[in-house]
Amino acid sequence: MPSGSLPQRTPAIVGNWKLWGTRAQAADHCDRLLALLPDEGRRPAAVGICAPFTSLDLCVEKLSGSGVGVYAQTMHQEESGAFTGEVSAPMLTEIGIDGVVLGHSERRQFFCETDRALQEKVAAALAAGLRPILCVGETEDEREAGETERKLRHQVQEGLEKVESERLAEVTIAYEPIWAVGTGQVATPEIAQDAIAFVRALVADRAKEAAERIRVLYGGSVKPDNAAAILAQPDVDGALVGGASLDPESFARIIAAAAP
Ligand code: PGA
Repeated sequence: MPSGSLPQRTPAIVGNWKLWGTRAQAADHCDRLLALLPDEGRRPAAVGICAPFTSLDLCVEKLSGSGVGVYAQTMHQEESGAFTGEVSAPMLTEIGIDGVVLGHSERRQFFCETDRALQEKVAAALAAGLRPILCVGETEDEREAGETERKLRHQVQEGLEKVESERLAEVTIAYEPIWAVGTGQVATPEIAQDAIAFVRALVADRAKEAAERIRVLYGGSVKPDNAAAILAQPDVDGALVGGASLDPESFARIIAAAAP
């Protein structure tokens, strides 16, 4: 049976606000999004938003009882210590956060986040009860040089190294080719499917059963008009949406596109 047809893998559509959202903007966004979403039981996908730290508690309050998950965009692996400017997993769970994005390409590129640190972060998030979304993906140069699989293998193996096999399926992986993030140049459905099937096979090398249950999302210039074709691919379990998630209408249309 193709893994994509297994019933356990309901799709997830997660909006990544990046550096956007004063508390006033976040409150307005949550209100407008809730007005557009069907009731939780009738949604074609699980829904989440990733807000900046300063708006997280407000999003938790606004979205409480709605079934929309609230995620942080990064965290530190240690619980406390001399790490000025950082926030830890217990600080996030204390305010009711559901999960955290780890290793986004912008964090890797602009804030020097390493695979070694991510190894600790994924494990620390799980230990604290947060759902990690681990981002992986190749640059344009790496794709052109035929190095996509090598890069993905390295990032996936390193990122999951400290996760016990029994907990692997609790991690979500987001395949985000760097050339597609924020560029308007979305991957073709075939590229997304091939890369995500490869990521799933890497998880299967660790644990076959987990590979059938783990969610692997696509991210990179997902818009209302291109979402359905990508989400229809058998191994694509949803999307991590940046720019198009800032407008509640377009985010809601992408969520609707997850319907089979
Ligand atoms: P984008 O961002 O949809 O704006 O390309 C995706 C992401 O960074 O997760």
